[in-house]
Amino acid sequence: MKPMQASFLNDKHGGASTKGVQALCSDCHLPQDNYVSYLYVKAKSGAWDVWKEFVLGADDVDWYAKRERANEFVYDSGCLKCHNNLRTGSERSNKQFVAHKPYFMGTTEKTCIDCHSVGHKDLEQELKRHFGPVTTTSVSSVK
Ligand code: HEC
Ligand code: HEC
Ligand code: HEC
Repeated sequence: MKPMQASFLNDKHGGASTKGVQALCSDCHLPQDNYVSYLYVKAKSGAWDVWKEFVLGADDVDWYAKRERANEFVYDSGCLKCHNNLRTGSERSNKQFVAHKPYFMGTTEKTCIDCHSVGHKDLEQELKRHFGPVTTTSVSSVK
């Protein structure tokens, strides 16, 4: 988990926050719609299993390959818990309101992280530092 933690510490959502607000791992990696649906999703679609598999992970996981499937373990509902102002906009954030209109109107299939790389700054470099270069087969963990 070292590369994930190191990259998180360098991200504005983690150690590099300038606002004094740090996101929790679970903010982004568990669905957050509200308490009821949180439990509901957890029970119904096995979000907890997803968390265990993708976020806690095992040592022999291919972390490079896993990134391709980030949309399966990062939830927009988590982003929106903190960034819900994008939905309505304000005078100050009109540009952002316009940028996200298709998203909230449902006319784009893109998720938050399709457009924004957040949470783990320079994850690629951290992965390489920890596991060595990208391989096609499973990357074995070198601690
Ligand atoms: C602000 C949202 C956010 C927070 C907070 C966050 N993550 Fe992530 N995480 C992401 C995103 C987005 C990705 C996919 C990033 C990518 O592949 O470039 C990701 C990817 C991962 C991966 C898969 C990495 C890989 O190489 O396959 C793991 C594991 C992970 N996060 C664990 C954590 C842990 C542990 C924490 C808390 C220390 C955490 N995350 C905090 C958004 C977040
Ligand atoms: C716990 C609240 C919280 C959560 C959850 C959260 N954010 Fe943020 N986000 C913030 C704060 C606070 C900042 C401003 C940080 C700063 O400027 O130091 C920020 C900054 C950003 C920025 C601009 C800075 C950058 O790193 O590019 C983007 C884009 C962003 N968030 C997108 C997302 C997305 C996408 C998610 C979900 C994967 C997410 N956020 C989850 C609170 C959150
Ligand atoms: C189709 C691509 C797209 C999608 C999907 C998208 N965004 Fe954005 N987002 C943008 C663009 C473009 C901007 C820059 C707007 C501007 O000029 O300020 C932006 C700006 C932002 C900012 C302000 C960044 C800063 O530096 O202050 C935040 C925060 C943010 N988006 C969060 C989110 C969240 C959370 C989601 C999902 C609910 C999301 N975005 C979905 C394209 C997108």
